[in-house]
Amino acid sequence: MTILITWGLGYIGSHTAVVFANAWYDVVIVDNLSNTDIGVLEKINTLVPKPVTFYQCDLRDKIGLSKIFDVNKIDGVIHFAAFKAVGESCEKPFLYYDNNIGGGNCLYETMQTYGVRKVVFSSSCTVYNTVDNQPPYDESTSLKTINPYGSTKLIAEIILQDLSTHLGFQTIALRYFNPIGAHPSGVIGENPGGVPSNLLPYIYGVLLWTYEHLSVWWDDYPTPDGTCVRDYLHVMDLAEAHLKTYELLKMKDEWKSFDVINLGTGEWTSVMEMIQLTEKATWKKLPYKLCPKRAGDATSVYANPQKAHDVLWRKATRSVEDAIRDWWKFIQSQ
Ligand code: WQD
Repeated sequence: MTILITWGLGYIGSHTAVVFANAWYDVVIVDNLSNTDIGVLEKINTLVPKPVTFYQCDLRDKIGLSKIFDVNKIDGVIHFAAFKAVGESCEKPFLYYDNNIGGGNCLYETMQTYGVRKVVFSSSCTVYNTVDNQPPYDESTSLKTINPYGSTKLIAEIILQDLSTHLGFQTIALRYFNPIGAHPSGVIGENPGGVPSNLLPYIYGVLLWTYEHLSVWWDDYPTPDGTCVRDYLHVMDLAEAHLKTYELLKMKDEWKSFDVINLGTGEWTSVMEMIQLTEKATWKKLPYKLCPKRAGDATSVYANPQKAHDVLWRKATRSVEDAIRDWWKFIQSQ
């Protein structure tokens, strides 16, 4: 079986490529290298039994994409390709709409041309209405986006729902909570370009003295220690869930439908707890400063993971401590 992974040299894509290749899939990666570097390819190939195939191609390049489908008999697609910085999406909405939605549409059209119908889509918990609903969030929670990044994920889900209804696509959208960590080998992890907006990559920068301190976006939220809480999921649990999801799509070959599944642990960790866990794992003091709230931050976001347990017969098997340990091993190997 040949699986196409878009932006498979990225953080989650690379870990997913390793999982699929070790499950004996032929992995074809398409990436335009706008949010990663080519060095990740060589690292992936040290972790898999058979080298993955790589094409540098922007999904909006219809001719380039068609050539890839011409020479590879693609059975299904894991679609990650998207910019994902919430703050950046507010400053550059057209970049997000063009890349995330425009690239996806070009991919789906090419899939239809070549008779490829199975797609696992990388969606996000940012589609949930966290203003009018309290966590834990399950798949029936109402949807409302508050930034262009989240909107691109919601719009893509709607498009894929239409394609499933009218063109026979088989789609499962996986709504991630907060992916963290790295492959246990320490060979691959998260290499964000530019100033990271996410918590752990920024902590990474502080530990490596790129930044003086961590800004903790305020501590008077209605939580046990006053800082926001999130559902942090080990990236390897996330990657393995993509394999389980694709195996489900393979079993339901006549299934012409669309479904959504949360990928979270159902547990939550506060910012201060993440600082304490990082200090414990690294034996380093993490300097931080209390700063005003970040616009758009929800107090508390965590999943009800029951549907993933029922449909994918899987639970997260790794803890936040495991993720921080694996991530620190990756950082030290850089
Ligand atoms: C986590 C917590 C901040 C940085 C992410 C992704 C989004 C989506 C959901 C997948 C928050 C606090 C952070 C810092 C801080 N995932 N923080 N200082 O906002 O939950 O969104 O998960 O689609 O793509 O962006 O994650 O890591 O930015 O923040 O205090 O320097 O850490 O307030 O409470 P967030 P995050």
